[in-house]
Amino acid sequence: MPEFTPRVFSGIQPSGGLTLGNYLGAMKRFVELQNAGTHETVYCIVDLHAITVWQDPAELAKATRELCAGYIASGIDPEQSVLFHQSKVAEHVQLAWIFNCVARMGWMQRMTQFKDKAGKNAENASLGLFAYPALMAADILVYHATHVPVGEDQKQHLELTRDIAVKFNHDFEVEFFPVTESVIEGAATRVMSLRDGSKKMSKSDQSDMSRINMTDSADAIAKKIRKARTDPEPLPSDLAGLDGRPEARNLVNIFAALADSAPEAVIKDYAGQQFSAFKPALADLAVSRLSPISAEMARLMEDPAEIDRILDRGAERARAIAAPILKRTYEIAGMVG
Ligand code: AMP
Ligand code: TRP
Repeated sequence: MPEFTPRVFSGIQPSGGLTLGNYLGAMKRFVELQNAGTHETVYCIVDLHAITVWQDPAELAKATRELCAGYIASGIDPEQSVLFHQSKVAEHVQLAWIFNCVARMGWMQRMTQFKDKAGKNAENASLGLFAYPALMAADILVYHATHVPVGEDQKQHLELTRDIAVKFNHDFEVEFFPVTESVIEGAATRVMSLRDGSKKMSKSDQSDMSRINMTDSADAIAKKIRKARTDPEPLPSDLAGLDGRPEARNLVNIFAALADSAPEAVIKDYAGQQFSAFKPALADLAVSRLSPISAEMARLMEDPAEIDRILDRGAERARAIAAPILKRTYEIAGMVG
């Protein structure tokens, strides 16, 4: 394999608001990778992914700008990282078509996220929802990205991305696409619903009490944590004591991720304590971390024209990386230039 420039790519959908799961599982990690300075970092607002399920156009535009504000408020520097929205860089879709022709039906049919999202009525799901993982592979590989930070739920899609890269390289007898590494690290790779410890915290959950939104007020955050489902036992003295207690484990993981600590250390500090003591401490911590971000998001949203300028500039920089990679891909596949 040739040497690839160390490059991080990741994306978040502008569908609904950002949750604490997005922040801890993705955004916060994106900022850490940017600040580590070891990789080029490319971060995308994946609006073309969002429309695989119905989005009201005005809401989509608003959510796109809000997500851009969320990235910046969380610490993404649009000068240092490339920050842009997917629909502005046509190369993603152009490469996705090639990958639609590389990926096999059998591979796609195994994707659990499609099965979850399509639910019982798969006949009525959009073709885009089914093809989505091939577009995701194109998002990543059109930058020759070497590392992709995501939450646990995206693991299978990243394995598919690797399969697509390997099959393309094999079929065309080239060593062109890197076999991307997923980066699924930290205490909060899977933040669970506050109402049900067996379900992921999600933007699309019916119950707003199940999640913390980045734009929630301090009072709302405190209330949701106070009402979060738990069991009647006090906190255990070691991690093993959290086995079979998914709600307790979730709150400990959230605490650790917000405090830049580890679950082991949190358990040590709170061993033997009741949730009536732990929850207020967690609420204070969450408010102290999230409130400055939501205040900065609101401030940035007052100037949507500036957000649009940032996104335009990001798209130009993204295109400068993607266009030559797409051009070479088309040549390899036999498209006359
Ligand atoms: P999405 O909102 O589905 O576009 O997800 C954007 C990023 O946030 C992906 O990297 C997801 O894996 C991550 N993510 C979403 N929900 C959670 C969660 N509950 N816990 C951890 N990471 C999450
Ligand atoms: N599928 C991801 C999600 O739902 C979002 C996404 C799209 C993505 N393209 C990507 C993540 C490329 C990482 C890399 O969360």
